[in-house]
Amino acid sequence: MNLSKRLEAVATLVDIDSRVIDVGCDHALLDIYLTLHNGNKCLATDINENALEIAKKNIKKYKLTNKIKTKLTNGLTNIKVNKNDNIVISGMGTHTILDILKTNILSDTLIISSNNNIETLRREVINLGYYIDSEIFLYDKNKPYVVIKFLKGYKKYNKIDYEIGPILKNNTNYKEYLIRKYKYIINNISKKKFLLI
Ligand SMILES: C[S@@+](CC[C@H](N)C(=O)[O-])C[C@H]1O[C@@H](n2cnc3c(N)ncnc32)[C@H](O)[C@@H]1O
Repeated sequence: MNLSKRLEAVATLVDIDSRVIDVGCDHALLDIYLTLHNGNKCLATDINENALEIAKKNIKKYKLTNKIKTKLTNGLTNIKVNKNDNIVISGMGTHTILDILKTNILSDTLIISSNNNIETLRREVINLGYYIDSEIFLYDKNKPYVVIKFLKGYKKYNKIDYEIGPILKNNTNYKEYLIRKYKYIINNISKKKFLLI
């Protein structure tokens, strides 16, 4: 089974044998992978009926219908979350992710990969009573991604921790990526300014 590099990274942060609530499962490939390789019990959910139908077909294809539960729902609505569950939210924007996190009691473990605004994500999830346990930076099909595991509890952070990440601030690949990104931005601002003169 072909799991994207991003979802492989998500999978490495999931606790073995835990129950996983995969919010926005889409194709449910992560749930299938975790069930087969990690011994997780998965609840694969999505807001989109078509996505969930594809998820169900994939689950059936792998003969896991009696192992992976599915639910059509918005975020964590009508889901009974337990303290030890691993909530996975991956492939959505920070705004949607934060809306989802604010609608239910949460578990002690959140594994999140947002498409944007990672700094806001860190700040807001930490404000909900979590600290950052792990951060992974990776390229998948040449696109950069960050995956973060948050655990319930408190750690003191400074500005740079929120901006770049308490773990990623020591990651050379991530720092090189940021330098390239900001150089690109600066070059483009200067060009526009130059054209305006
Ligand atoms: C880009 S896909 C990501 C799929 C998978 N999680 C991944 O990381 O590859 C985003 C999925 O999230 C679902 N989604 C978006 N908003 C949602 C919400 N509020 N509640 C549940 N699912 C949602 C979409 O329907 C879509 O299937």
